[in-house]
Amino acid sequence: MSRQITRRHFLKTAGAAASATLVGESLIGSTAAQAASSYVRRDIGLLATNDPIITSYRAAVKAMKALPATDPRSWTYQAAIHGTTTTPVQTAWKTCEHGTYYFWSWHRMYLYWFERIIRKLSNDSCWALPYWNWSAASERQLPAAFRDTASEIYTSNRNSAMNSGAGSLPASYVDYSSSFAAVSFASASSSLEGTPHGAVHVGVGGWMGSVPTAGQDPIFYLHHCNIDRLWNLWLAQGGGRSDPTGDSTWTGKKFTFFDENGSSVQMTGCEVLRAAQQLNYVYEGEPTQVNQYCLKIKLPPFVIVRKELIHFPIPPIVLESKPVSFPMELKPLRQQLTAFADSKTDTILLAFDAVETDRQPGVVWEVYVGLPANTAADTKSPHYVGNIALFGAGVRSDAHHEFKPARFDFPINRAIAPALKGGQETVPVTLVPSGILVDGKPSRPKVESKVRIGRVSLVVETQKRQ
Ligand code: C2O
Repeated sequence: MSRQITRRHFLKTAGAAASATLVGESLIGSTAAQAASSYVRRDIGLLATNDPIITSYRAAVKAMKALPATDPRSWTYQAAIHGTTTTPVQTAWKTCEHGTYYFWSWHRMYLYWFERIIRKLSNDSCWALPYWNWSAASERQLPAAFRDTASEIYTSNRNSAMNSGAGSLPASYVDYSSSFAAVSFASASSSLEGTPHGAVHVGVGGWMGSVPTAGQDPIFYLHHCNIDRLWNLWLAQGGGRSDPTGDSTWTGKKFTFFDENGSSVQMTGCEVLRAAQQLNYVYEGEPTQVNQYCLKIKLPPFVIVRKELIHFPIPPIVLESKPVSFPMELKPLRQQLTAFADSKTDTILLAFDAVETDRQPGVVWEVYVGLPANTAADTKSPHYVGNIALFGAGVRSDAHHEFKPARFDFPINRAIAPALKGGQETVPVTLVPSGILVDGKPSRPKVESKVRIGRVSLVVETQKRQ
């Protein structure tokens, strides 16, 4: 791989620093490794549709589509590494990790090798994958370059409103604040995997809506590039956040991919902890990356203890096109809950387990706790606690091997506070289906497959210093 700094690369880096203030995230400065990184992954929203980054991507996608499907660098093969329904299964096919704590690391590895293939097949030696920064309010539509029907990076297999530009992602689909508030790696990753990750998959729809086809849509890789960037940003918050560097199962597990010459390669968690140092890339506008290391003896600075407080004996909840509400009993737990709600180290979680559906429902459900009767559901309300967005885990038709139901945890300290203070015996839990925005207005798309929630409980998560 050529690591020389070309003039264009230099301009890209300079551009990245200059536009950092536009991204709305602070650029605290760069470590030496970051400054020396050859590749800058840029925000697609700041690129013109004819930027060389986009034309190179188009050229490489075209070249990959022209390769025989047996070539591991072909578009078909690369997409199949993520998922496919084609048989017989070839090396590394259907290996994406969802609903596990390899979610962030597996997708980081996948993008890294994919990016090297694009770099080679586009003959653009300084090419780096751009990210779809749907976090920014100005980038909620599908990026324009992907809506051009004459382009190699267009597909009609998307929600038609997203493809026309009329559709946009609602703010609640891309809200990562719960994930970022979580200190434990597993909680942050699993929360983020639902929203924004799964919600954006659902919003784009079509191929993106389901694991076996998602990798065929060229926008997939830009979506995941933002997810990967958020991993860095989550760590950069500090406060005890760490990758599971002391967990040898996570650090040592090997995954297989293919390089730009079509040779198979293996990678472990230890090799993807430091994007700039180990993988030679930084994100436009990101703060200094946190360098994590796999050490032989290592204790996490914090341990997170989970304890179930109560399991509500309610019948399974079925989500269809109408909002659903059920009462949650607080009475037997009031004292405990009040103590936890005021604490800084305890998080009360409303946990939905055994969540499953047959196919992609095409809808995300907003979850509210303590929403007063006759009040409109509004995601800006303090009673809004998050979304149920299904992708991969919990979707029967997406299962690679054996089916795994999904689990969703929602922090509710803030949402139940008024009910606890007011001495209420029960609080309502309300689930409201929500679609993408069309012409800026909420839409109520058809629910393609109903969702069943098998178990509801309250869990307390306590963060302890070792
Ligand atoms: Cu492996 Cu966004 O999916």
